[in-house]
Order: sequence, then C-alpha cells, then structure tokens
Amino acid sequence: MEIVVVPDAEAVAEYAAERIARAIRSRSADPYRSGAVIGVATGSSPLGAYAALAARVREGELDTSGVTAFALDEYVGLDPSHPESYHSVIRRTVTEPLGLDPARVHVPDGTADDLDAACAEYERRIREAGGIDLQLLGIGANGHIGFNEPTSSFASRTRIKTLAPQTRADNARFFDSPEQVPVHCVTQGLGTILEARQLLLVAQGEAKAAAVARMVEGPLASVCPASALQLHRDATVVIDRAAASELRLSDYYEYVQERLPGGAA
Ligand code: GLP
Repeated sequence: MEIVVVPDAEAVAEYAAERIARAIRSRSADPYRSGAVIGVATGSSPLGAYAALAARVREGELDTSGVTAFALDEYVGLDPSHPESYHSVIRRTVTEPLGLDPARVHVPDGTADDLDAACAEYERRIREAGGIDLQLLGIGANGHIGFNEPTSSFASRTRIKTLAPQTRADNARFFDSPEQVPVHCVTQGLGTILEARQLLLVAQGEAKAAAVARMVEGPLASVCPASALQLHRDATVVIDRAAASELRLSDYYEYVQERLPGGAA
C-alpha cells in the first residue's frame, strides 16, 4: 500500500485528481483499448477531487468523452429521481461537472423488483466494460468502503446489505430526518472492489484518523472492511495530516515518499 500524506484537504483533492487524470489519459492513449473505466464514490471525501477534475475538463486539459464510470453503491428503495439517491448524487457531482456521457455512467439499481438479479447484472456490466481501471474510494468512520459494513466478506460481490446504525446516523445530514435514511443498500462487494486494477482511497480530517489507522496499520480483518486494501497490489491512500494523525509509522511513509524509485509520484 502506498501512503501519501499531504498538508490539507485541497492537496488531497489535487493529488487524487492528478492520479485519476493520468489513468484516463493512459487508457485513451492506448489504441487497442476503449476509454478508461473509472469507479466513482459518493460521500463528501471525493468531492474536492471531482471539482479539481472538472477544472481540468473546463480548461481543455482532460478529455473525458470516452470514459465509462461505475458507482460503488445505492440506497434500496429510493427513487433514482430523489435528490439523495446515489443516481442523483453521481449525476450532480460527477457526470455533469466532468462532462461524462450519461449513457456510460452506471449506478447500482436499488429499486428493482429482483434486487439479486440486478446486482448480478451490475457485476456483468463491469466485466463487459473490461473491468475497472481505477476505483476511487472514501472510508466510513467505521472502516466501511462502498457500503461494505464491518464483517463484510473479503470475497463479497455486489449485493444487498443492511446499513449500520452509525452509517445511517452519519448520512442523516443529507435527509430531512434520520428515519428517512434507507435501512438497506446495494453495494459492490469487497471482492468486486479488489478486482479494480488500481485503488485510490482519499480521506480528510481527524474524524477519519482512527479508521485510517485501522485500515493501514491494523490487522487484515473484515471487521475493518477497508483493511482489504492490504490485499491489493496497487492501492494508494491519500490523506491529509489530520486523517494521518493516528498512524504510528508516519515518519516512514514520509521517508518513502521522498525516495520514490524513479522520482515523485
Ligand atoms: C458513505 C458512502 C461511502 C463513503 C463513506 C464516507 O456512506 N457509501 O462510499 O466513502 O460513506 O462518507 P464521507 O466521505 O461523506 O465521510
């Protein structure tokens, strides 16, 4: 795992945007493959990265026309037109500002009559697109990624999950009242996420420091789903100083970043 500690949230956004832009450009430059396939996350953590990417698109530095995107998760039972459905959130924060083709942006279906079949179909679409090149992730205070709550299997695939009370409370700020937060969700599994070619997790602020420390330096354990990143051969964690404040080996991560083989990342 590569640990990159930067001074503040703005630097997290810039670093992540540059990594995503690089993944998009390297795929478009490959004549034997179609455009890049990017995994996108909801939550507040990646918003800065999306804004920094949108600026590159506006300034003509980045062409996103061939990009396909897959979201991690969706609430069960919220109509896609609901402003807090992840269909709406992804449209507002990713599809529109980055100028993506809406037909190439996929979000799990949380309103299907047969949710199991819809989840299997989502997995099929990811495979058909050639797999995800880079998956952007945030982390929940309880260590979840996507909506893979504690004790999610490392082998799990896209499926229905019950949201942890803490996650519902954390997300209540987006709804008029806490009871309106759906109880169930569909989420890519940890096994699905681990198949992406690159993982890029962003976290900012002290509220994430304990979860970040468990993910990076804790044991590999499904009780901290984000510890699954330890199994991936190309996972990068980009955090600000506040989110890094509970890491024990910060000096070592800094030492490594100053001596990257072949120059800076
Ligand atoms: C949400 C999302 C996750 C996100 C996490 C943290 O519920 N399903 O994908 O990473 O919780 O959210 P935030 O970035 O707002 O702290």
